[in-house]
Amino acid sequence: MEQKREKFSSSFSVFFATLSSAVGLGNIWMFPYVVGVNGGAAFIIIYLGCVLVVGLPTLISEFVIGRGTRKNVYGAIKEVTNKKVFRSISTIGILATYVLLFFYTVVAGWVYSYVFKAIVGTFKGIDAAGATKIFNDTSIGPVSPIIGQLLVLIVAGTIIAMGVKGGIEKLTRITMPILMGLLLLLAIRSLTLDGAMEGVSFLLKPDFSKISIGTFLAALGLAFFKLSVGTGSMITYSSYFTDDNNLIATGVKVSIADTAVSLIAGLAIFPAVFSFGLEPSSGPGLLFNTVPLIFSKMPGGSFLVVIFFFLAAMAATTASISLLEVLIATFTEEFKFSRKKALVINVAIILAFGSLAALSANPEGLLAEIKIFNFSIFDAFDALISNILLPLNGLLIILLCGFSIKKGFVRDELTNGGTLNNEGIVSILLFIMRYITPILIIVIFLKTFI
Ligand code: PHE
Repeated sequence: MEQKREKFSSSFSVFFATLSSAVGLGNIWMFPYVVGVNGGAAFIIIYLGCVLVVGLPTLISEFVIGRGTRKNVYGAIKEVTNKKVFRSISTIGILATYVLLFFYTVVAGWVYSYVFKAIVGTFKGIDAAGATKIFNDTSIGPVSPIIGQLLVLIVAGTIIAMGVKGGIEKLTRITMPILMGLLLLLAIRSLTLDGAMEGVSFLLKPDFSKISIGTFLAALGLAFFKLSVGTGSMITYSSYFTDDNNLIATGVKVSIADTAVSLIAGLAIFPAVFSFGLEPSSGPGLLFNTVPLIFSKMPGGSFLVVIFFFLAAMAATTASISLLEVLIATFTEEFKFSRKKALVINVAIILAFGSLAALSANPEGLLAEIKIFNFSIFDAFDALISNILLPLNGLLIILLCGFSIKKGFVRDELTNGGTLNNEGIVSILLFIMRYITPILIIVIFLKTFI
């Protein structure tokens, strides 16, 4: 059955839906731990540069392709190019979507389980050792991490089944602003803890001796991951954008809001990390080891910690939805699956491979001993995404938009058929898209891998 394509109802909804894909575990979980591992302020400066010069132009390129064709990633790429290299964008995108979901749903599952733990009062009066124990109980397995992951897939799948508009549009208008408000509150509490200033200077005082070429690739990968670029999520979502949406403005607003959420999350986590004497470079457990501690030191904390993890779970879920939607749109529109069948098959695939990630994420997990190039399965999925698939696909997307699609197509989308009177900005953007963004990505790639 030919499915009628949905559209978001206004630019307001477009903004929040797009933001709901961008804002997720990347801000709350990944950003703080990657900043911690890479030494703080100096990394943040490089990251901001990557968002501006690489992430944003690539994001806008995905919008051009998505809204210009109004198709799923596979159909969209097929429509705009017949060159083999560029046709691979959809294959890489779909592969990246799967791999990302394999490990993203693991962390989302931990967050879900923290919602329940917060509700039953597990975090009351805990200390740092207690927090670590709770994190290990959640993530080592064999049962709890997989149940958490399954739950995430069921919730995301159910919302997807309700359609893009009915589910996501309504949900994200409410959850995004509340999440931001709560993060701010958390940051204020964290900043007023004893010894908090050490965390602030970690975030603000750059120490460039900590920068290596690996830092640049980490920043680049994080910028793509954060803005949901490279999987086809943004091609898919923009295929539902309104005709009069200003794509450049949406890209800029989403990038600013997303970056603000990450920075506030950093301000919430690091002062607390230093105040409690935790290790800033401790990796993926950082969020789970610190946030319960901050709330346990706060009036009303046992209630607020429930709200916090609940909203974090929502953010993780809406980002997962934008990934699942890449698969569902492609399966239903290209391979003519029913929405339900597409969902069941994809959830089964994600669970099958994702459980390998779930059991290898904690260094003491059941499968943590299995190594791929020295990485655990979980870390290998993560590295494959951030270091290879997203930057590679980002490069192809920006080259496709800059050089290969017929010129009128890109300009038309960026100016809404000339009605926006933004020719000057478009020319500057096109210059960056052609000559700056791709060269930067290539240089960082070559420097890292050669
Ligand atoms: N941007 C999301 C986050 O920060 C993750 C994501 C990446 C979602 C790619 C969709 C596509 O959590």
